Amino acid sequence: MKQWTIEERYRSLHDICTQEIRELKEQVDACPHRQTFHIQPPTGLLNDPNGFSYFHEKYHLFYQWFPLGPVHGLKHWYHVSSKDLVHWDDHGLAIAPNTSFDSHGVYSGTGYVHNDKLHLFYTGNVRNTDWERETYQCLAVMDKNNTITKREQPIIPEVPAGYTKHYRDPKVFKVEETYYCIIGAQRQNETGCVVYYTSSNLIDWEFQGEMETQLKEFGYMWECPDYFELAEKGILLFSPQGLKATGDSYQNIYQTGYIMGEKMDFSTGQFQHESFMELDRGFEFYAPQTMENAKGERILIGWMGLPEIEYPTDKNGWAHCLTLPRQLQWRNGRLLQKPVEALQALRKNGRGIEATLLEDTQTFPGVQGTTYELLCTFGHFTNNIGVKLRTSEMEETVIRYDVHTKKLVLDRSKSGEPFAINYGTVRQCHLDTKEIKLHIFVDTSSVEIFVNEGEEVFTSRIFPAKESTGITFFAEGEAKITAEMWDIGE
Ligand code: FRU
Repeated sequence: MKQWTIEERYRSLHDICTQEIRELKEQVDACPHRQTFHIQPPTGLLNDPNGFSYFHEKYHLFYQWFPLGPVHGLKHWYHVSSKDLVHWDDHGLAIAPNTSFDSHGVYSGTGYVHNDKLHLFYTGNVRNTDWERETYQCLAVMDKNNTITKREQPIIPEVPAGYTKHYRDPKVFKVEETYYCIIGAQRQNETGCVVYYTSSNLIDWEFQGEMETQLKEFGYMWECPDYFELAEKGILLFSPQGLKATGDSYQNIYQTGYIMGEKMDFSTGQFQHESFMELDRGFEFYAPQTMENAKGERILIGWMGLPEIEYPTDKNGWAHCLTLPRQLQWRNGRLLQKPVEALQALRKNGRGIEATLLEDTQTFPGVQGTTYELLCTFGHFTNNIGVKLRTSEMEETVIRYDVHTKKLVLDRSKSGEPFAINYGTVRQCHLDTKEIKLHIFVDTSSVEIFVNEGEEVFTSRIFPAKESTGITFFAEGEAKITAEMWDIGE
């Protein structure tokens, strides 16, 4: 892989000629792994979703964007919008790093609608002449014509005593009559936490202290915090860095999860909660963000990628995409994640199967593809069962339930172009069940598998050949299988 110098990573878009961008775009467009129905960058690297909100009858979504290549460099916000969370309009570059408070990156943040304006809170990342990090919490305001104006001065210009310059990703929300801004932070002793501020006008912010959790030493930095209330519970979502892999947990380079408890007591800073739960069991999932839509539904979108890992698309000038939007629900003591119903608008050519397998492997005529939605239920099974996706003679992506260990396993060891193999090729989680329902979305280079009404989700990139189109069901004992499938795309 090409090594990028600091100068190359921090070139301003103003210094780039249209020819260079055109050539990069041609290279990206020719990549066989371009997605069909996921949000992906036109060129360069995408990371966190930002500013996810509903404003003037549309969802607005931004993402972290380095336009010039598949590396983390000078970050911008890119803007897309949608009426239904499924079909997205492209608005291009939204916020560029061009002031003394964000000169080295417009980092992650939130959108909050107030006084008919979408307020975009973000972290301004600055490197001083000694290349030391400075960090400012900034505000830009978008009107109904998508015109964005930055506020000249940061709204939170300092890092309070006790914390390092790893202090970023403001999330703003309102509880009763007060606005809150929570920020991902690192204490001087290099442990991660979340701090919060209060405001009565979204401009003047007062530091309150930490959200007091029971996780005093839990990784060295907590990125992209989000707090919301669902079914009378308080949920703090964040992406901790520095957790050690244990058992089936924390297998990726960085983690994402939540702690749930009684609603946060903002007057004391106390948050009583249960243990940390990972949100996703797959290989690629990080820095998600939620918003509440007009129907009061809580919708989550994440980054289907991770930092510090090379991906097969890097050589074609781009990297990563966002996950599909998921609706969150709280049921029987757990957070469920379901693909939003509106995604059904993408369905084409529905077909179904019903079969009983007995120590058998079976394919079905017409049940195959590269971009599709597959809903399958396995019942009455007496031994291990599963389904293989994107198969060919050499390739397969396997989802397998082991009835003896009660583990649901995703195996991407033969999923096509290999990558990130230092982090293993299998992910699994405990699942004690007599029936398994898998709701699967396959795009050109990804799978998202929602298990039993969203109790678990596996989100992963895969890079199979376009000829790998097969779908095979298998049962090592007896099993009843019903499935429905729809093509998505052309
Ligand atoms: C998470 C993150 C954020 C930061 C942004 C920079 O992936 O590191 O903490 O704001 O990415 O692109």
